[in-house]
Amino acid sequence: MRIRPRRLRNGETLRKMVRETRIDASSLIYPLFVKEGKGVLEEIPTMPGQYRYSVDTMGKKLEELLRAGVSAVMFFGIPAYKDEMGSGAYAQDGVIQKALMQTKRDFPELYLITDVCMCEYTSHGHCGVLCGRDVDNDETLKLLAGTALSHAQAGADMVAPSDMMDGRVAAIRERLDENGYINTPILSYAVKYASAFYGPFRDAAGSAPAFGDRKSYQMDYHNSREGMKEALLDIEEGADIIMVKPAMSYLDMVARIKERVNIPVAAYSVSGEYAMIKAGARLGYIDEEKIICETAASAFRAGCDIYLTYYAEEVARYIQEGKIG
Ligand code: PBG
Repeated sequence: MRIRPRRLRNGETLRKMVRETRIDASSLIYPLFVKEGKGVLEEIPTMPGQYRYSVDTMGKKLEELLRAGVSAVMFFGIPAYKDEMGSGAYAQDGVIQKALMQTKRDFPELYLITDVCMCEYTSHGHCGVLCGRDVDNDETLKLLAGTALSHAQAGADMVAPSDMMDGRVAAIRERLDENGYINTPILSYAVKYASAFYGPFRDAAGSAPAFGDRKSYQMDYHNSREGMKEALLDIEEGADIIMVKPAMSYLDMVARIKERVNIPVAAYSVSGEYAMIKAGARLGYIDEEKIICETAASAFRAGCDIYLTYYAEEVARYIQEGKIG
């Protein structure tokens, strides 16, 4: 036999030498829930090991992340009050704005990204303002742009709209530019599907829609070309990075989009993915560490340049320990 594929699998040194996917902790982003209040440290029941922090309690976690080699976080806010207009999203003294100001001061080396959406702030739980029972796209754009600007003013290094309104990237770009934030990048959750994998997140943020669902703005998971349409549209509107979400069941989209676009592609391993691994591991059905390594490597193998995961700290540690990467 002249060709023996097994030849290159002989021993760890050789396997590492010919490895096709290299993972680096600088590609990781950790999503973090910041809740209004003081002394908050609440474990999220459907996401064991993940917490809601208040501004005064999150420092320890940020330190741990930095120590492990994770230098970017994505903030999600949980306000004290929700209203029809989601006003907590763009309030000067909103929970995210306060978190940004404090974190910029205490951890200047940390890169701060914010989720820009209304659903955590609206009393009805939808990702925009309502007109009757439908989300009013164009009215919502103004509030999203205002939210993104308030984040930039409070110290966000990058903003990440996740609402799936049409035209939001252009609206945000324009508002940021008018106010001098020409160098604040937009990471667009462009390829975001209406997914049951967000279930635990909605528990964590109390952001489940009070009626109906998100199918009039998030995408139907049967569609692939539509995801490409969203990605290309957002790039035209000025997105700097395109995100695919969820990750695990959507790696085909990561691969397709990576082939077609020339900007960085991010993949978000969402709350339900975390919860499944955690639950399986707790039951003793799967090996948590090995599954974390394999799922992370598969996202990078599919082509993502940036990976958001609740396991960011673990992934960074396993990279350091030579278990993946
Ligand atoms: C806000 C938002 C959601 C997630 C990220 N941004 C929830 C949703 O769209 O319902 C989900 C993240 C996760 O499940 O980990 N729109």
